[in-house]
Amino acid sequence: MHYGGDYNPEQWEEATWREDVALMREAGVTMVSVGIFAWSRIQPAEGRFDWDWLDTVLDLLHEGGIAADLATATASPPPWATAAYPGMHARDADGSIFWHGSRQHYAPTSPEYRRLAGELVHALAQRYASHPAVVMWHVNNEYGCHLHYDYSDHARDAFRDWLRQRYGSIESLNRAWGTDFWSQRYTDFDQIVPPRKAPYSHNPSGLVDFKRFTSDALLELFTMEKQILREHGATQPVTTNFMGAFPPADYRRWAREIDVITDDNYADPNDPESFRSAAFSRDLMRSLKPGVPWILTEQATSAVNWRPSNAPKAPGQMAALSMQAVARGADGIMFFQWRQSRRGSEKFHSAMLPHAGRQTRTWREVTELGSVLAALPTLPAGPSGARVALIFDWENWWAIGNPDHPVRLDYAHLVQRWYSALHRQHVSVDIRGPEEDLSGYGLVVVPQLYLVSDAAAANLNRYVADGGHLFVSSFTDVVDSDDAFRDGGFTTVLGPILGMRVDDFGALVAPAGPAGVDSAGGALDGPPSPAGPGQRHATVSTPLGPVVGQYFAEELRVLDATVVGTFTDGRSARWPALTTRVSGAGQAHYLATIPDDPGMTTVLRWALDRAVIAPELPGLPECVEVARRGSVLTVINHGAYPVSLSLPGSNLLTGDPLDDVTLAPFAWVMTDQPTLEEK
Ligand code: GAL
Repeated sequence: MHYGGDYNPEQWEEATWREDVALMREAGVTMVSVGIFAWSRIQPAEGRFDWDWLDTVLDLLHEGGIAADLATATASPPPWATAAYPGMHARDADGSIFWHGSRQHYAPTSPEYRRLAGELVHALAQRYASHPAVVMWHVNNEYGCHLHYDYSDHARDAFRDWLRQRYGSIESLNRAWGTDFWSQRYTDFDQIVPPRKAPYSHNPSGLVDFKRFTSDALLELFTMEKQILREHGATQPVTTNFMGAFPPADYRRWAREIDVITDDNYADPNDPESFRSAAFSRDLMRSLKPGVPWILTEQATSAVNWRPSNAPKAPGQMAALSMQAVARGADGIMFFQWRQSRRGSEKFHSAMLPHAGRQTRTWREVTELGSVLAALPTLPAGPSGARVALIFDWENWWAIGNPDHPVRLDYAHLVQRWYSALHRQHVSVDIRGPEEDLSGYGLVVVPQLYLVSDAAAANLNRYVADGGHLFVSSFTDVVDSDDAFRDGGFTTVLGPILGMRVDDFGALVAPAGPAGVDSAGGALDGPPSPAGPGQRHATVSTPLGPVVGQYFAEELRVLDATVVGTFTDGRSARWPALTTRVSGAGQAHYLATIPDDPGMTTVLRWALDRAVIAPELPGLPECVEVARRGSVLTVINHGAYPVSLSLPGSNLLTGDPLDDVTLAPFAWVMTDQPTLEEK
């Protein structure tokens, strides 16, 4: 179990480094990520490297028994680099330059950036590949974090090359993009530009391709650095830190190139439900490389500096969120950062060692967590025990986010809400892609999978044919991988197994929220207006009671399915809303709307019942989380009040029975609890 944080010794004098190592030992730190933003200190000028300070830091860490996750430091090129090679700067869709003076201002496809970054990594690898402190390599930092998309001329050229590779001929691109619409037909790849500022909507297929290209271009940077490290004899695992469900990078594809998944997560202490979104990110990370423990590389010990209001974590909350990560497969708990900065943009960001020193609650909680993690037995790497898979897909995210749809949707937020509905019911979930093997799951939940590739369609059909239960909700199976309608209407590739077709989407007025998309809780805004213009919701009768539907009241044509729920109000009253089709041992359900939060819980309870999937533990309140890691169950109270519980087994750390246990706010217990199959 690794414990530590980002370590930026370049911000401090040598005397402080010695104190750092002593205090790290006091806090139980075992590993630090060194020098993530130290490029300008490592390489003060092109062709000149200053190693003395980094030699000393790594030697001191090693003497202190602390391992280094050594950064390749390529995330923030020094001012000398962009001054010498101004073409390195990234540009926005208007053509404005992202200047230096902050970080991540480089164009990922710039040949100068790639050359300079490559030279730096080459030099670092040569010097430190066999340094005994170095146990892992931390490539770059949060690729794409601030600068999701680059529209520079370098990006333009690289995008054209990427399109040449994908399509081979301009004719096939024209076909895929449907460029006869609005006179967009190209006669040469060199006429194509990234989706820069334009008077009106861009070609949607082109937008999706630009996002595919961006994810690939960023990944290429990672693999370039990894290859240099390997060529210079580095044998340690190589990683780059993810940011949960992050739009510009298809982490499912990236995960294949990454030795150990690492993730950064900043749950908002102001949001009482943020533990559920954190749980989603943890499950996503675990699911990206099943069976290989991941590392939480960054979180805050208390407040961050970048929200409008930066609340501190409540006493115990940092440990509760850390144990949540462990419970969901992490073998490392780390923070941004070790020592709070004295200068710079992040001086108000909390750290393991606060600016206010060691007589602080944060320091006490940091050292306590260090000893708890050190006392943990080795935990099983898996399996998660999840019988439910929730489908989450980047390509769909990109396509469904395009403009000009019946109603605007925030896909990631919707998937999070579906996840939360399962989390509230204490059901373990893996987050899978639509083309991944789903054979072990009892229930697969498919929310808003607007874009369904041919491979995904075959996979989902096979899953049901082999006896699985599929739950599909509206605005699914609308387009193919080109973001174009297929022949034969909608629901063309899943319709046969579902026994129905969607004829019309029946968009409702979307709930209020940022930019007209879904509000945080999915709550209804304003009084219900069930009929006529301005209809905001449509009630569905389900076997488990009425459910409020939002966004869509789709018009279904039922072909070969049983109607188990109908719309009961509004313009779609009495129309089918929830259908099911039994095919062999498999079942496929379709819901023609997107429910509000209580409705999601209801319809998923119905689907879980049909698939005979029970909660990990019965009768827990919603503020109590339960997570399985192999045979180990972790139970955490995220609520504001103590909760008394009767749990099976005994406390993994103390051996005490748990049949009568009270969990204070943010308290947790771990218990060894074999799965039903193991029993
Ligand atoms: C992360 C980043 C860190 C630090 C942190 C502050 O996005 O990787 O370097 O800036 O945020 O919360």
